[in-house]
Amino acid sequence: MGLWGKRDDMVVHEREPFNAEPLRGALAGRQETPVDTFYSRNHGPIPAIDPAAWRLRVGGLVARVLELSLKDLRARFDQVEVVATLQCAGNRRAGLAAVRDIPGEDPWGPGATSTARWSGVRLADVLAAAGLRAQATHIAFAAPDVSHLADPPQPYGGSIPTTKAQGPEVLLAWAMNGRPLPPVHGGPLRAVVPGWIGARSVKWLTSVTAQTQPSDNYFQATAYRILPAEADPDHAGPGDGISLGPIALNCDILSPDDGAHLSPGPAEITGYALAGDDRSVARVDVSLDEGLSWRQAELDRPDSPWTWQLWHITLDLPVGETQVIARAWDCTGAVMPESPAHLWNPKGYANNSWARARVTCR
Ligand code: MTE
Repeated sequence: MGLWGKRDDMVVHEREPFNAEPLRGALAGRQETPVDTFYSRNHGPIPAIDPAAWRLRVGGLVARVLELSLKDLRARFDQVEVVATLQCAGNRRAGLAAVRDIPGEDPWGPGATSTARWSGVRLADVLAAAGLRAQATHIAFAAPDVSHLADPPQPYGGSIPTTKAQGPEVLLAWAMNGRPLPPVHGGPLRAVVPGWIGARSVKWLTSVTAQTQPSDNYFQATAYRILPAEADPDHAGPGDGISLGPIALNCDILSPDDGAHLSPGPAEITGYALAGDDRSVARVDVSLDEGLSWRQAELDRPDSPWTWQLWHITLDLPVGETQVIARAWDCTGAVMPESPAHLWNPKGYANNSWARARVTCR
């Protein structure tokens, strides 16, 4: 077993803070990702929290401040389960870094995306119990892990609009795939905000605050924003760029692996597609001729509206080298853009250009 209970073959971008993603093949063909395979994205040290001593404070624009233990959460609220995909905004950054260097950021592949069955309580129910006031337009999350990547160094945090926070899919989760949430994934309790970039699913949650503005935490106000291509990220300040929330429509090829050697003839090509927030995947097309012609892949039924959709297609691969290309469409008619060059941004977020895998058949 590798670091933090992960498989030995994870791609470890950094050990401290721990940042690791599974190889394509480890994600392929599975609706739910085993915990030892699920990617992990951290900006600081993973805190050791005693679940018995831990409390969640719910405050701000509420009628009554709540202090809740795990026992209180279980006893006072309905327990629910949501199968949801988390995807980091830095997923597929390597494709952007190939266009132009992105210093100081890890070159994530397609594996900063994983799906789990999360159990806990609805954030909406906890906010209702606290008597959420009508003026509260944002719900801020705070955690104890201090990140030295932030300027100035500070504990991790973020926020989501109240309209999203009140959706039945947004959880305060204490379990993942039926097991207590491990420390590396935010135990004892984390937010799970399906359909939004992973950064908003704050781990090791200690407080939930209802307020009139988005969180002023560095990871909300300054990071996780699309800056103009010419901007210097070292000089970005609060409010610069476009704040990321709902996940961008995306897909990738999980099998065959990029660089695979195969026999010519029929080959099964599989992958995932994810539309983000309240959109759904409508179609996945696959091309073997640089997008001149496309064949439609078959989409598996997703386990819930909040997960990726796995897809597969069998195509005849010719002798020689072939680029397999995939692109997804969503239910609004939006399609993934062709080129990462058009999407390049200084922090390397939201690469949803066509997915490509190079295969050689002999
Ligand atoms: N929460 C805390 N407290 N600290 C973090 O560094 N990283 C965020 C989010 N929540 C982070 C956090 C990011 S960017 C992502 S993509 C997800 O957690 C990753 O969740 P995972 O490590 O369980 O896969």
